[in-house]
Amino acid sequence: MTERPERQPERPGAERWVPDEAGLGELRAAAPDCRGCELWRDATQVVFSRGRPGARLMLVGEQPGDREDVEGEPFVGPAGRVLAQALDAAGIAGERVYLTNAVKHFRFERRGKRRIHEKPAVGHITACRPWLVAEFEAVDPAVVVALGATAARAVLGHPAKVGETRGRVLPPESGTAGLPAPTVVTVHPSSLLRIEDRDEREAALAAFVDDLRLAADAAGP
Ligand code: URA
Ligand code: SF4
Repeated sequence: MTERPERQPERPGAERWVPDEAGLGELRAAAPDCRGCELWRDATQVVFSRGRPGARLMLVGEQPGDREDVEGEPFVGPAGRVLAQALDAAGIAGERVYLTNAVKHFRFERRGKRRIHEKPAVGHITACRPWLVAEFEAVDPAVVVALGATAARAVLGHPAKVGETRGRVLPPESGTAGLPAPTVVTVHPSSLLRIEDRDEREAALAAFVDDLRLAADAAGP
């Protein structure tokens, strides 16, 4: 694969579209108007989140995929099915979880009729981060789980390698760029879908379930 230079967003970020000290309902209502970067232009709609204030675990993904973009709901496509399976295996009930993404609009490239997922650039993560911070404040979770490297960057406020940071509870980084809650970094569920070998895939799923369980235990009852 040839590496292209990252195209950075054309706009300054979501800050001015995010209402101050807003509850989740207010944030959700304001998000469709966001023009904090150019990703709103080609996407079908904003994909905000699922879950309610007081959820003990805040799970952060990368960005909506093709299905999510069409339905307007996070994690309703193939990655969402893997995530639901893993949460179930970890014994984590749906109402304990608040589900969102680092970037709220689908970034893709058109190839003929197909829309191919394109990773958000660092600038998109930064542009969209005011939403994530506002959600964090509105939900007030006990533990944050970053699903994959994009989410880890958004949650911690700096780059982190998943392989080096997973499997433990990172302390809250209050006073720095991170969200001020204990954080567990783990893989993105779509990475499991890309593993062809069955045994390898099952081992990767088991490790993902372990990370989720670790986060749930740290969050308490
Ligand atoms: N992948 C994500 O990161 N988020 C979604 O909502 C769906 C797939
Ligand atoms: Fe706003 Fe985020 Fe959408 Fe960009 S991706 S327009 S910052 S909501």
